[in-house]
Formats: sequence, C-alpha cells, structure tokens
Amino acid sequence: MASHSELLAYTLCSILCICSLQTSVTAIEVMEPAAVNLTYYLHEVRGGPGTNGTLWAAAGTGSASNNVSTSGVGWGTFFVFDSPLREGQTENATLLGKSTGTATVTTKGGIPDGGVMIYCQHIFNNATIYNKSSIMVGGQVDFTNVPPWEAIVFGGTGYFRGWRGYGLAELMTSSDAPLIVYKWSIFISK
Ligand SMILES: *[C@@H]1O[C@H](CO)[C@@H](O)[C@H](O)[C@H]1NC(C)=O
Ligand SMILES: *[C@@H]1O[C@H](CO)[C@@H](O)[C@H](O)[C@H]1NC(C)=O
Ligand SMILES: *[C@@H]1O[C@H](CO)[C@@H](O)[C@H](O)[C@H]1NC(C)=O
Ligand SMILES: *[C@@H]1O[C@H](CO)[C@@H](O)[C@H](O)[C@H]1NC(C)=O
Ligand SMILES: *[C@@H]1O[C@H](CO)[C@@H](O)[C@H](O)[C@H]1NC(C)=O
Ligand SMILES: *[C@@H]1O[C@H](CO)[C@@H](O)[C@H](O)[C@H]1NC(C)=O
Repeated sequence: MASHSELLAYTLCSILCICSLQTSVTAIEVMEPAAVNLTYYLHEVRGGPGTNGTLWAAAGTGSASNNVSTSGVGWGTFFVFDSPLREGQTENATLLGKSTGTATVTTKGGIPDGGVMIYCQHIFNNATIYNKSSIMVGGQVDFTNVPPWEAIVFGGTGYFRGWRGYGLAELMTSSDAPLIVYKWSIFISK
C-alpha cells in the first residue's frame, strides 16, 4: 500500500510531467511558422535523351526522341520532365533543387483545348534550409487561361510533412525559347 509521501511524490511527478509536456508543445507552436511562401524559377529545355533537354514528349502523338517541338502533340501525349529549380531566371542562378514528374495532354483537342495535367515533386537541395525536403505539385495547367496558372500542393516530405496549399506558375520567357523559364510562387501552410 502506498504511503502518504509516496502518493504525494507520484502526484507531484504527474503534475510536473504534464507541465513540461505543455511547455514543449508551446515551444513548438512558437518556433514553427504556420505558413511559408516560396518563389523560384523552373528552367526547361525541350528535347529527349542524348540532348540537354529537361522535358521530353516520351509517348503519344507528336512524340519522338529528341523532338524539341510540342507543336505536333495531341490528346494522350505523355511528357516526362526533370528540370532544375533556380533562385533566378539566368542559367547561372543558384540551383535550389529540381522538379521531376509527368505531364499528360488529357483534353481531346490537345494543348489548345485546356491544357496539360501535371504531377510532379519539387525536391529542394542543400543550398536551401529545406535540404532533401519536397512538395508534391499537380493539377490541370490550362495554357489558354491568362497566367498565373494555379496548381495544387498536395503535401510534402521532410520539413514539409503535413503541409499543403497551392502554387502559381507563369512564363517568364517565350514558350519556344531554347531556355524556357517559369516562375513558381508557392503558398503552403500546416
Ligand atoms: C504569403 O502570401 C500570402 C498571400 O499573398 C500573404 O497573405 C501572407 O502574408 C504571406 N505569408 C508570408 C509568411 O509571407
Ligand atoms: C517533331 O516536331 C515537329 C514540329 O516541329 C513535327 O512536325 C514532327 O512531326 C515531330 N516529329 C514526330 C516524329 O512526331
Ligand atoms: C549570370 O548570367 C547573366 C546573364 O546571362 C550575366 O549577366 C551575369 O553576369 C552572370 N553572373 C555570373 C555570376 O556569372
Ligand atoms: C543535406 O542533407 C544531407 C543528408 O540528408 C546531409 O548529409 C547534408 O549535410 C545536408 N546539407 C546541408 C547543407 O545541410
Ligand atoms: C551539397 O550537395 C552537393 C551535390 O550533391 C555536394 O557536392 C555538396 O558537397 C553538398 N554541400 C554540403 C554543404 O553538404
Ligand atoms: C544545349 O546544349 C547545346 C549543345 O551543348 C548548346 O548549344 C545549347 O546552348 C544548350 N541549350 C541550352 C538551352 O542550354
């Protein structure tokens, strides 16, 4: 049977444990921001394997190895991409990570008929404080709409576990330039 002093010690300990738990929960809430806005630039070069291309029409109408033009693509064309994300618009801007994923022409009339369904992961590198963390970005990019085009940030990994929100993309160069640059503005929260 517990003595009075043992019971008192146990009760005290329980109170202390609850207090220290609350302290740490409060500390986490104060230290972690509830929202983050990110801006970076995706650098795209069109072309298949054996070129310096980062976007390739891998299957479907208008696809061909090394074809840099998207003018021949139609309903069902499937692109893969692996494009660098940089701090700025110039080729020598600091590399922050990459965007790798797929884009499928899902509308019957092709790209002019509503756009492209993208699904990709933006993975950040050690030049950022989000080293190895990533966000999953996707949605229908309707190039017939006035930009910015809106995409969904479904979730993330690492630092961004449990985060979600949206992203806005706009074209910063001509869409048929050798180096096509898109600006991504990301708005995410937890
Ligand atoms: C992020 O952007 C939103 C929308 O423009 C703004 O309301 C918010 O204050 C920004 N948050 C931060 C942390 O800059
Ligand atoms: C490659 O793109 C061009 C448009 O510049 C198109 O005419 C041609 O058909 C495409 N090649 C193939 C094999 O689809
Ligand atoms: C980066 O490229 C831009 C334009 O191409 C050039 O003006 C600038 O001097 C370059 N910066 C460095 C550090 O090389
Ligand atoms: C980035 O993460 C890797 C392992 O995930 C680690 O080895 C490396 O030191 C980190 N770099 C920076 C600059 O934090
Ligand atoms: C960052 O990553 C690059 C490429 O993986 C590597 O060469 C470099 O040593 C890393 N830097 C740090 C500080 O971890
Ligand atoms: C791709 O590589 C070729 C050959 O090295 C080069 O001439 C061209 O400028 C490169 N294009 C881009 C956009 O980097």
